Amino acid sequence: MEILRSRAAIENYIKRQKQNGNRIGFAPTMGALHDGHLSLYRKAEAENDIVISSIFINPTQFNNPDDLAKYPRTEEADIKLLEGAGVDAVYLPRIEDLYPDGAASRHYDYDGLEHQMEGKFRPGHFDGVGTVVETLLRQVQPDRAYFGEKDFQQLAIIRKLQQQLELPVAIEAVEIRREPGGLAMSSRNVRLSEEQRAAAVVIYETLLKVRDWFKVISIDEIQQRVAEIFSSVEGFRLEYFTIADEETLRETDFFYTGHNYRAFIAVFAGDIRLIDNIAL
Ligand code: PAF
Repeated sequence: MEILRSRAAIENYIKRQKQNGNRIGFAPTMGALHDGHLSLYRKAEAENDIVISSIFINPTQFNNPDDLAKYPRTEEADIKLLEGAGVDAVYLPRIEDLYPDGAASRHYDYDGLEHQMEGKFRPGHFDGVGTVVETLLRQVQPDRAYFGEKDFQQLAIIRKLQQQLELPVAIEAVEIRREPGGLAMSSRNVRLSEEQRAAAVVIYETLLKVRDWFKVISIDEIQQRVAEIFSSVEGFRLEYFTIADEETLRETDFFYTGHNYRAFIAVFAGDIRLIDNIAL
């Protein structure tokens, strides 16, 4: 596996791949890789000639400096995992490779997608994501780029970014991978204590209940039941629970035929923020 630590190195590598006519699959990450990432690489390997991943903890998408400081950094283990997964190259840019004028976000208008859910609780987050993803896609020039459905709103926003900027890349979605108890795999999970990890199964269990309740009881009633569940889990705090239209991500309080809906949730386990979602 090639380890590329600068913009010059990645651009050189890409040039060679393009000259050889190789189709490039790309999975950008912030490291602390886990089995959820493996499914991105598996899909990318099946659909492309070579697979590149990047690891960069993007400061501009963190609205909370403490979250950025505590974000797990596991480069050595990540490189081993990538080698084991058969990834062809990893791009580990320095800050100046992505932000030559200093770490600041560009502003994007994603047709309102950015104002829902995560956008309400993490101001500036999606400008930061858009900035780094646009820059990475322009440098890596992949044929296909892979993103997990755990960050469903991020995925929708990246699709919008691709359309608006007419970037020549196909955005591919990869299903959520879950731990045996149902907890969605996430880089943040390594920060959970054993007790928190065990208790965190309540998130997925609740989403499964919501799926059963949907169309049977009112959305108002579902909201109340979810709030009750989390008020009784010690050390956990529900930040938001929303049922939203899959296309617009707008919250709904009623089920309209011809639309697809998804339930979205953000929960704090201590100071660790976990998100999840389920198709209804
Ligand atoms: O989902 C992530 O890991 C990040 O938001 C991404 C897409 C790599 C951008 O920093």
